[in-house]
Amino acid sequence: MAQDITVKITDREGITHEVQAPTDMNMNIMELVRAYELVPEGTIGICGGMAMCASCQCYVLNDVSLPEKNPDEEAMLWEAFNVKENSRLGCQIHITEDIDGLEIELAPFE
Ligand code: FES
Repeated sequence: MAQDITVKITDREGITHEVQAPTDMNMNIMELVRAYELVPEGTIGICGGMAMCASCQCYVLNDVSLPEKNPDEEAMLWEAFNVKENSRLGCQIHITEDIDGLEIELAPFE
């Protein structure tokens, strides 16, 4: 049976939330943030998870190994604001057992 994993998410106010994420619902990190309502409605996931808006940008804080960026994610991060070395798009990070313990901080919303 699929296990839930734990993800630590620091919201845009600087508050850290430790949340449980299901691995069997085909969710990504952007959808997880929405499910727990960690940011106001309409400030994340604007493109619906197509790697086209960067509203789901987050900074990866620990060394949980994530899949490589795909070309769409690379291209969007090239154009986005507030991009750092450890920036990723939350909608491109799928929730799997491999990312258990991931810690991220949400980037500011532009
Ligand atoms: S939701 Fe638009 S880029 Fe992730």
